[in-house]
Amino acid sequence: MLYVYAYLCWACAGCVSGAGRYAEGVSNMAANSGVFEPRNILVTGGCGFIGANFVRYVARNHPDVHVTVLDKLTYAGNPENIAGLPESRVELVVGDICDAALLERVVPGHDAIVHFAAESHNDNSIADPEPFIRTNVEGTMRLLEAARKYDVRFHHISTDEVYGDLALDDPARFSECSPYRPSSPYSASKAASDHLVRAWVRTYGLRATISNCSNNYGPYQHVEKFIPRQITSILEGIRPKLYGTGENVRDWIHTEDHSSAVWEILTRGRIGETYLIGANGEMSNIAVLRMILRLMGQPEDAFDWTRDRPGHDRRYAIDASKLHAELGWKPMHTNFESGLRATIDWYTNHREWWVASKAATEARYRAQGM
Ligand code: NAD
Ligand code: DAU
Repeated sequence: MLYVYAYLCWACAGCVSGAGRYAEGVSNMAANSGVFEPRNILVTGGCGFIGANFVRYVARNHPDVHVTVLDKLTYAGNPENIAGLPESRVELVVGDICDAALLERVVPGHDAIVHFAAESHNDNSIADPEPFIRTNVEGTMRLLEAARKYDVRFHHISTDEVYGDLALDDPARFSECSPYRPSSPYSASKAASDHLVRAWVRTYGLRATISNCSNNYGPYQHVEKFIPRQITSILEGIRPKLYGTGENVRDWIHTEDHSSAVWEILTRGRIGETYLIGANGEMSNIAVLRMILRLMGQPEDAFDWTRDRPGHDRRYAIDASKLHAELGWKPMHTNFESGLRATIDWYTNHREWWVASKAATEARYRAQGM
């Protein structure tokens, strides 16, 4: 894989700016099919958890597509997440989505931007909201401006958290019509970014779509998040930590299913539309933790309760019927327990990938009493 350290190397601007890709000719709608067939996509945040899994998905399933990853490599980004992919098809540009001058060099020549880059962790946003507003709001605006200037198709990755939460005993689920009611600085910043995308569609005619997905799990997820935190704690002999009552419900989806849904929306979704992505994976945190403990051969009560997250959302649940009906998308990973077992195996076999960040993350959590 080719690394282009854009902020260090102006000489690389030629390859970064995609002159070669222009020469090959950008793709558009396949003749008469109504399917958008991108050839050169820019994936922001492609060294993070979901972005990297998406880059791997595209490299595996669409060998005719060239991917440029634009990633700042924050604490959450790791070039190892996309290591081993063919250099001719995957290129890494290290840089900030808030850097308008860099976007001027990187964006031209791409026919689509798939925008994953974000500050993504609720607990961090509660401790310090500022980077969330900068990356998630300002960064999205910068990308939208570049996409508008160069007429690039835009797909925005968002979250179900923009809709706030549901009561535990409420049979309702989120749909594309649910009102925006974000609870945390993180989800408020994502809600703001969704509004920006809609405004750019309506005001400037930008060719954009939005997807709001539920909680992802799978390989390469940072150890600050619930499932990898608990797995790696057990592997390190640390007792897992459960916030509050543990009754909060999340709607789990394997990250590979998120990738396939995003690809369908990018290539066949209707411009200006929002699609919710979910896989009917509702489960309480305490049930997930007990499943992890059981699968790892531990007693099901071998964990500690901690103080609750302020403003902790109670329940998320996705109604993905629009995505099913319009695009025929279906998740492949329908057995959560077997997906969890594979995820446990992945962390067990990739200790070198997480061990350094584990120590730093647990120190941060300890300081917050979590
Ligand atoms: P992550 O924190 O694992 O990765 C974020 C990536 O973005 C990292 O590689 C980081 O280096 C990069 N990044 C951060 N700031 C940047 C900047 N200013 N410029 C360039 N790159 C920058 O996040 P994730 O869990 O993979 O989430 C990816 C996206 O999916 C986010 O937009 C998030 O809101 C959304 N999402 C996440 C989930 C989930 O369960 N994790 C669910 C639904 C939606
Ligand atoms: O719903 C989609 C969202 O899912 C994404 O937009 C976010 O980027 C992603 O981080 C995730 O948000 P959550 O806050 O739901 O995920 P997190 O992994 O932080 O926590 C999941 C649940 O587990 C939540 O109810 C808090 C709880 N929790 C978390 C940790 C880290 C614990 O009980 N103990 C923990 O140690």
